Amino acid sequence: MARKKLVAGNWKMNGLSADLAEVKAIADAARAYPQVDVALCVPAILIERAARAVPGFAIGAQDVHEAESGAYTGCVSAAMLLDAGASLTIVGHSERRDAQRESDAQVKGKAEAALASGLGVILCVGEALDVREAGDAVATVGAQLDASLPHGAGAAAHIPDDLAIAYEPIWAIGTGRIPTTEAIAEMHAALRRRLVAAYGEAGERIPILYGGSVKSSNAAEIFSVRDVDGALVGGASLKAADFVPIVAAAAAAS
Ligand code: PGA
Repeated sequence: MARKKLVAGNWKMNGLSADLAEVKAIADAARAYPQVDVALCVPAILIERAARAVPGFAIGAQDVHEAESGAYTGCVSAAMLLDAGASLTIVGHSERRDAQRESDAQVKGKAEAALASGLGVILCVGEALDVREAGDAVATVGAQLDASLPHGAGAAAHIPDDLAIAYEPIWAIGTGRIPTTEAIAEMHAALRRRLVAAYGEAGERIPILYGGSVKSSNAAEIFSVRDVDGALVGGASLKAADFVPIVAAAAAAS
């Protein structure tokens, strides 16, 4: 099945007012590639200004709280993100699963809260190096996906249209190392089977992105892998000069 490619940038804890010029440059350049969905997930405090700077371009968050509101100091709800102008959010990034000890159940709750509110979701999964070296990557990431996937009436209405999965091997993030194309293909095929098992035919339509050290120099090769429907890009999304060629590679592979 042909799925529209999605290339999303994850700015992590990078970006000040001065960097809104890069947001604008990326959004302007992305217009030349209507066959690709492009989004930038910026720090929460930058969302409102970024969204105002580039009307019609998808600005996202990097995390969301699972509760609607309440006594959660320092956290941000889905309604707040929407109110600020975000149209999507990442959930379950490995840096949050590790550093903030987020469990699969919590990630699932975040995905459900976001979807029910009308925010799109990029749900991340991925294995650590020792798991890959032990030969357990496909089983481990598959189980992580199953336990993290959103369910329930509020979320179901937004699946598949507002849900994407990002396979991000932890050992490939920010390291310049990427799995072989065979390993990426094997993982994406396994995740696809699990999505179909979870959602039936809708599971065929959920994009599965690859993430981890995607750059302009390797993007074309990654996008040529069967079942790779786009990329979640960290470091190479900070500058239009690095990010736009990745969008172009996705367009060429479409
Ligand atoms: P990277 O990060 O592209 O800098 O490896 C990807 C990510 O963490 O989403």
